[in-house]
Amino acid sequence: TALTILMLAIAYLLGSISSAVWVCRLFSLNDPRESGSGNPGTTNVLRIGGRFPALLVLVFDVLKGTVPVWYSYHLGLEPVYLACVAVTACLGHMFPLFFRFKGGKAVATAFGALLPLGLGLASIILLSWLIVLYLSGYASLAAIVAFSLAPIFTWLIKPDYAIPVAILSSLIILRHRPNIIRLLRKQETKIVYKNNK
Ligand code: G3P
Repeated sequence: TALTILMLAIAYLLGSISSAVWVCRLFSLNDPRESGSGNPGTTNVLRIGGRFPALLVLVFDVLKGTVPVWYSYHLGLEPVYLACVAVTACLGHMFPLFFRFKGGKAVATAFGALLPLGLGLASIILLSWLIVLYLSGYASLAAIVAFSLAPIFTWLIKPDYAIPVAILSSLIILRHRPNIIRLLRKQETKIVYKNNK
């Protein structure tokens, strides 16, 4: 229907706003696409500019997932279309219209899109991310493990959504290809941040 197409368009356009790029411009920091890992995301903004800019990016990128899915749910979209909205928001973040289709890895946006499925599921995914980050120090490995487990957790808690979550997870893991290569070569950067900001 027209409403579904409208929500997909909104999800893609919102997703396309690379908050990491804007926040770094706002704080006169280096362009995250050309600095650190080259990824316009929370982890890289943490490297470049410290905690506060990174927090802004995190909140904005999470909302890019949560808002369109939540709104679509309240408009009465069917589960299959809610899943499409979630995937489209992440595709917007990965391939943004406004930034020559060069975007991020959509870890925060996918997490945001999963939030409407319930705090229980979101908490388990977040917890697995935190455990791997704590044990390894790698944000990328934490995301890869958390999103590998996410479809299993979803299957246990909200079985109807296991397939869309698996699609989201696959996209995220594919986007971590350079990280996987660096991890295998032991060249990946651990999560670090500037303390002075
Ligand atoms: O959230 C993205 C993270 O998993 C990896 O980021 O900058 O280390 O490639 P980065």
